[in-house]
Amino acid sequence: MSAVHVLEGGRHPAVLDVPAGALEVSARPAGAVKLSLVIPTFNESRNLTELIGRLSAVLDGCLPGAYELLVVDDDSPDETWALALRLADRFPALRVMRRRGEKGLSTAVIRGWQAARGEVLAVIDADLQHPPEVVERLWREIGEGADLAVASRHAGGGGMSDWSALRRALSRGAQLLGLCLLPSVVGRVSDPMSGYFMVRRSAIAGAVLSPLGYKILIEVIGRGRIDRIAEVGYVFRERTAGQSKVTAKVYVEYVRHLVRLRLALLPPRFAKFAAVGLSGVAVDMAILWLLKGRLGWPLTPSKLVAAEMAMANNFLWNDLWTFGDLAEKQGYGMARLRRFAKFNGICAAGLALSVGLLEMQVGLFRINTYVANAVAIGVTTGWNFWMNKIFSWSLPQPLSTAVPAQRRAAGA
Ligand code: GDD
Ligand code: MN
Repeated sequence: MSAVHVLEGGRHPAVLDVPAGALEVSARPAGAVKLSLVIPTFNESRNLTELIGRLSAVLDGCLPGAYELLVVDDDSPDETWALALRLADRFPALRVMRRRGEKGLSTAVIRGWQAARGEVLAVIDADLQHPPEVVERLWREIGEGADLAVASRHAGGGGMSDWSALRRALSRGAQLLGLCLLPSVVGRVSDPMSGYFMVRRSAIAGAVLSPLGYKILIEVIGRGRIDRIAEVGYVFRERTAGQSKVTAKVYVEYVRHLVRLRLALLPPRFAKFAAVGLSGVAVDMAILWLLKGRLGWPLTPSKLVAAEMAMANNFLWNDLWTFGDLAEKQGYGMARLRRFAKFNGICAAGLALSVGLLEMQVGLFRINTYVANAVAIGVTTGWNFWMNKIFSWSLPQPLSTAVPAQRRAAGA
């Protein structure tokens, strides 16, 4: 163990123990620290000194004595953690966690937040690609009431210094995939890939976070209680020292993370809707077999009758079970007929969407037919669920009792 790590008989006062167990941030901040800024590091010894100096200069100006910097290092071969301890002798706000077992960027950030004492938790890359000076603008947004303040490459004044076209395309592609799978999460910010943001501890305390790979921000938005989001534009700089640790594995982990978060955030009704959908597949197959296989009908009329019978089956179960509570409030008879008409229209559009998606994947991207069909069914099920939830079973909104401003002014 390096000499700087252990003082005579004791241990360096800046050393932080590594939390274990669930990745859950406690509700209670300790003491007068307002901001805890976590700096995840892996082989960043050539960037850290400049970063700590620039961060300290900014924060001594806007948060003197009320902030802490937490380096969370995964036992870097270049001993970034040892350098951080030496720097801690010069920068009293600096604390250092050296992880040996657990690895990975996003768990490093959360372990840092678990050991943090601040009311506001933040993260910044160690490699100077995130300009340290932006911290002050993020802090100002939090001070003005945001629950989450994100440094975004796609907000006003933001950008990427000479990123390769491939890297830009990959980043945008990842964002598009996120928008398809998790529109209510990824769609809330212009740069969901950002690893530079601040979040109120109260917005994520008690939520068990289970990120994968690099993208901690979508985990915070997906599982936190985030009401107000502010964005600050910044230019993502080129690295001047060290290497990016992004590999193909980071992209695979990102897709797995999106799917896992999507499943975790599905409303309970969705599982019922999907089970009803499966029963519809069985009805569709049985009617098709009966009409085409036993009665010798031509294929298309058989398929149309089978599909309609399956839709009727699905509507009935959804009206009785999946959305039974909403159907009861809306009433039966003509109201149910109206719901059935809407359900048919939405599912017919879903069928067209499914055929179009299948054609595009197989025809354009040469994807395997059955893989493409599974993707088409997944996307169409999502379409059918959300559209029916919004249009077929939504309850009429109570008329707004608020008096319009101009009538209020006229003393209505
Ligand atoms: N502790 C720890 N463990 N830190 C890590 C690990 C790890 O396994 N992997 C990377 N880091 C640290 C790096 O030392 C750096 O400080 C930061 O995480 C970002 O890593 P890079 O390898 O530089 O990633 P990048 O430059 O490609 O940045 C991309 O990912 C970042 C993190 O989400 C971009 O999308 C950035 O916008 C984003 O901030
Ligand atoms: Mn980087």
